[in-house]
Amino acid sequence: MIPLPVFILLSLVCFCESDDRLTLGKPLSTGDKLVSSGGVFALGFFSPKNSTANSYIGIWYNKIPERTYVWVANRDSPITSGSAGKLALTNNSDLVLSDSKGSTLWTTMNNITSRINGTAAILLDSGNLVVRLLNGTYIWQSFNYPTDTILPDMPLALSTNDHLYGRLFAWSGPDDPTTGDYSMGGDSSLDLQVIIWNGTRPYWRRSAWDGALVSALYQSSTGSILSQTIVNRGGSFYLTFTVSDGSPSMRIMLHYTGMFKFLAWNNNSSSWEVFIQQPNLSCDSYAYCGPFGYCDGTETVPKCNCFSGFEPDGVNFSQGCRRKEELVCGGGGFSTLSGMKTPDKFVYVRNRSFDECAEECSRNCSCSAYAYANQKNGSITVEQSRCLIWLDELVDTGKFRDGSGENLYLRLAGSSVDKESSVLKVVLPVMASLLILACIFLVWICKSRGKRRIKEIQNRHTQQHTKNSKSDELDNVELPSICFEDIVTATDNFSVYNMLGKGGFANVYKGMFGGGKEVAIKRLSKGSGQGADEFINEVVLIAKLQHRNLVRLLGYCAHEDEKLLVYEYLPNKSLDAFLFDATKKYVLDWSTRFRVIKGIARGLLYLHQDSRLTIIHRDLKASNVLLDAEMNPKISDFGMARIFLGNEQQTNTIRVVGT
Ligand SMILES: *[C@@H]1O[C@H](CO)[C@@H](O)[C@H](O)[C@H]1NC(C)=O
Ligand SMILES: *[C@@H]1O[C@H](CO)[C@@H](O)[C@H](O)[C@H]1NC(C)=O
Ligand SMILES: *[C@@H]1O[C@H](CO)[C@@H](O)[C@H](O)[C@H]1NC(C)=O
Ligand SMILES: *[C@@H]1O[C@H](CO)[C@@H](O)[C@H](O)[C@H]1NC(C)=O
Ligand SMILES: *[C@@H]1O[C@H](CO)[C@@H](O)[C@H](O)[C@H]1NC(C)=O
Ligand SMILES: *[C@@H]1O[C@H](CO)[C@@H](O)[C@H](O)[C@H]1NC(C)=O
Ligand SMILES: *[C@@H]1O[C@H](CO)[C@@H](O)[C@H](O)[C@H]1NC(C)=O
Ligand SMILES: *[C@@H]1O[C@H](CO)[C@@H](O)[C@H](O)[C@H]1NC(C)=O
Ligand SMILES: *[C@@H]1O[C@H](CO)[C@@H](O)[C@H](O)[C@H]1NC(C)=O
Ligand SMILES: *[C@@H]1O[C@H](CO)[C@@H](O)[C@H](O)[C@H]1NC(C)=O
Ligand SMILES: *[C@@H]1O[C@H](CO)[C@@H](O)[C@H](O)[C@H]1NC(C)=O
Ligand SMILES: *[C@@H]1O[C@H](CO)[C@@H](O)[C@H](O)[C@H]1NC(C)=O
Repeated sequence: MIPLPVFILLSLVCFCESDDRLTLGKPLSTGDKLVSSGGVFALGFFSPKNSTANSYIGIWYNKIPERTYVWVANRDSPITSGSAGKLALTNNSDLVLSDSKGSTLWTTMNNITSRINGTAAILLDSGNLVVRLLNGTYIWQSFNYPTDTILPDMPLALSTNDHLYGRLFAWSGPDDPTTGDYSMGGDSSLDLQVIIWNGTRPYWRRSAWDGALVSALYQSSTGSILSQTIVNRGGSFYLTFTVSDGSPSMRIMLHYTGMFKFLAWNNNSSSWEVFIQQPNLSCDSYAYCGPFGYCDGTETVPKCNCFSGFEPDGVNFSQGCRRKEELVCGGGGFSTLSGMKTPDKFVYVRNRSFDECAEECSRNCSCSAYAYANQKNGSITVEQSRCLIWLDELVDTGKFRDGSGENLYLRLAGSSVDKESSVLKVVLPVMASLLILACIFLVWICKSRGKRRIKEIQNRHTQQHTKNSKSDELDNVELPSICFEDIVTATDNFSVYNMLGKGGFANVYKGMFGGGKEVAIKRLSKGSGQGADEFINEVVLIAKLQHRNLVRLLGYCAHEDEKLLVYEYLPNKSLDAFLFDATKKYVLDWSTRFRVIKGIARGLLYLHQDSRLTIIHRDLKASNVLLDAEMNPKISDFGMARIFLGNEQQTNTIRVVGT
C-alpha cells in the first residue's frame, strides 16, 4: 500500500507534469511527453543516442532506466535538425505529426470527415496508443501498426481472411530506428509458419504449427510465466503472448541483427535478459544444410547431417545430400524420424486422417515425406487435421535437442529403410559390433524377464482357472516377447495420434517398427485383474491358432504391470466402421459382403472344429472382425474365448461376458 499523502503527491506529479492523452487543441510539442495513467509507458520526442540530428515520436518504458523504445511513429520520416515537431489531434480525429514548416511527417489517416466531439489520443498502460471516441470505440491503435516489438496482449496478424500480414521490421542499426532489412511475420505463401526474412530472402523459419498452439516459454525463479499463443479469430491467425501477474516487463522483438528475441527486465542487474533467441544454432539459419540435410541440434556441437539413406552431395553440405539409392515409383517404404522441425515448401492437404495422409503421400510418386498433426488438443477450433506432404526436395529441416518437434515420415528406397547410419558402418565397425552384442544382451535380459513375468501370470491364471486351461500347453508359447522400450518407440510413447481404438479394458495403438513395419498394439489397462486373464488367454490361444481368417498375433510384452499384444496391422479397421458409416457402407457391395460373411464362417468353423483346440469365441461382433487391405475378414479379440476340452460337447459359464 502506498501511504495516502505519497499517493496524492504522486498523482500531482503525474497530472501536473504530463497527461496520458492528447485532445483537440492540446498538442504535444518537443520536450513534452505523455505518461500512461499507471506510469508504465511514456510517449514523446526522442533522438537516438548517436544521431542527435534526427528526432522521432516513440513509446518507451517509463520506469526502466535503460531507455527502450517499443514503438516509433515516424521511423522513416524523422524531424530533421533545427526543426521542432508537433503531434496534434485534428478536428477530424487524425493524429498528425508536423514539423515547424508545417509539413506533415506522419498521420494516422483515420479519414473521418465529420468532427466527433470528445475524441482523444490516449497512451494506455499496455503500451498501446489509441485514438478513442467518447463512447469508448478505438478508431486507431498503435498495436495494429507494430514496428519491431510485440508487447504482452498485442496481436501480430500472421494471416488474415483479407490477406493482411502483419510484420515486424527491425531497426537499421543499434541507434537507427529506420526500417531495416530484417522482417518477421507469417508466411503468405504457406499458412502455418513464421519466417524471418533478410530483405526478400528467408533467413530463419519456425517449424509449421503442429497443434500445440499455446506454449509456455519462460518461467522465472519468481514464478512468472510467458506463454505464447497463436489465436484464431474467425479464421485469421494472430501471434500473441501473455504474462502472468506480477511478472517483470517482457517483450518480444526483432533485433537489428535479425535475431528474434524474448526479453525480460531484470530489476536486480538493471538490464534486459534474453531468454530465447532465434536463430540460435550455427546450422539453424534457413536451408543452411541444403536439400535433404538437416541441422542436428542433438549433437554436442550442432551440425549438418544427412538423413539415413542419404549421403553428402559434394565435399561439405553446401549442396545438401543425395539418396544412396534412387526411388522406384511405387516401391520403398517410410522411415519415421522423430523430434523433427518440419521442412519448408510443403503442400497442406486439408481434412485428412492420419491414414489418409499417409495414403496421400504413398500413392504420389513425387511425394518424399509427410507429417501429420491433430490439432484437437489446441485451445482453438480450427480444422482438426493438419496433413503436410512434401514433393521432391526437403529443405530447412532440423532435429530439436529438447525432444520437441514432430514425426516426419520420410520415403526411402526398399533396401535403405532398414540400414544403420553410415557412421556406424564405415567409421566404427568395432563399436558397431560391440553395440550389437550389447543389444543382443539387452534383448535377452528383456526376453527372459518377459518370459518370467508371463510365467508368473500363467501360474496365477492356472491356479484360478484349472478347468479352463491346461498348464502343460501354456508352457510352450512360441511367440516372441517384444521389448517394452521398442513398443514405446514404435507408438511414439503411446501418442494419442497413434490411437486406433479404445475398448473396455484396452486401448489399441498403431505402431511402426524399424523398417516401416506397421503393427497394431493392444495395451491392456493397468491393474485390471480381468485384463490379466484376457491377456494370458489371448496369448496362449492365438499362439496356437493359424488361419487366414483369424488375426495374427506377432508378439507380446509383459513389463512390470504393462501387458501388451502386438498384432498384424489391418489398414481397413473393423467391419462395424463400414457397416454403420453413412458413406463407407456403400464400399460393401453384395459380393464383398458375401465374401466377408464366408470368411467369418470359415474362421468360426476352424475355431469350432478344425483347429487342434476347440474354441468358442463368445464375443463375436462386427467390431471384432477386422478387414485387411483386400477386405478379407479376420476375427480378433480372443479375450473372452473358451477352450473346450477334447470331445466335450457342452460347458457351463459362470459369468456373463461380452455383448
Ligand atoms: C556512440 O558513439 C560513441 C562515441 O561517439 C561510441 O563510443 C559508441 O560506440 C557509439 N555507439 C554505437 C552503438 O554506435
Ligand atoms: C478543422 O480544422 C481546420 C484547421 O485546423 C479548419 O480549417 C476547419 O474548418 C476545421 N473543420 C471543422 C469541421 O471544424
Ligand atoms: C485516407 O485518405 C487518403 C487521402 O484522402 C487515402 O490516400 C488513404 O488511402 C485513405 N485511407 C483509408 C484507410 O481509407
Ligand atoms: C460538439 O461540440 C460543439 C462545440 O463544443 C457543439 O457546438 C456541438 O453541438 C457538439 N456536437 C455534438 C454532436 O455533441
Ligand atoms: C461509437 O460511436 C461511433 C461513431 O459515432 C459508432 O460507429 C460506434 O458504433 C459507437 N460504438 C459503440 C460501442 O456504441
Ligand atoms: C543479409 O542480406 C545481405 C544482402 O542481401 C547480405 O549481405 C547479408 O550477409 C545477409 N545477412 C545474413 C546474416 O545472412
Ligand atoms: C527494482 O529495484 C529498485 C532498486 O534497485 C527498487 O527500488 C524497486 O522497488 C525494484 N522494483 C521491483 C519491482 O522489484
Ligand atoms: C532479485 O534479487 C532478489 C533478492 O536479492 C531475488 O529474490 C530475486 O529472485 C532476484 N530476481 C531476479 C530476476 O534475479
Ligand atoms: C541456444 O542454444 C544453446 C545450445 O546450443 C542453448 O544451451 C541455449 O539455451 C540457447 N539459447 C537461447 C537463448 O535459446
Ligand atoms: C562448402 O565448401 C565450399 C567450397 O569448397 C565453400 O565455399 C562453402 O563455404 C562451404 N560451405 C560450408 C557450409 O562449409
Ligand atoms: C472432410 O471429409 C469428410 C469425409 O472424409 C467430409 O464428410 C467432410 O465434409 C469434409 N470436411 C470438409 C470441411 O471438407
Ligand atoms: C502429387 O501431389 C501433388 C500435390 O497434391 C499434385 O500436384 C501432383 O499432381 C501429384 N502427382 C501425382 C502423380 O499424383
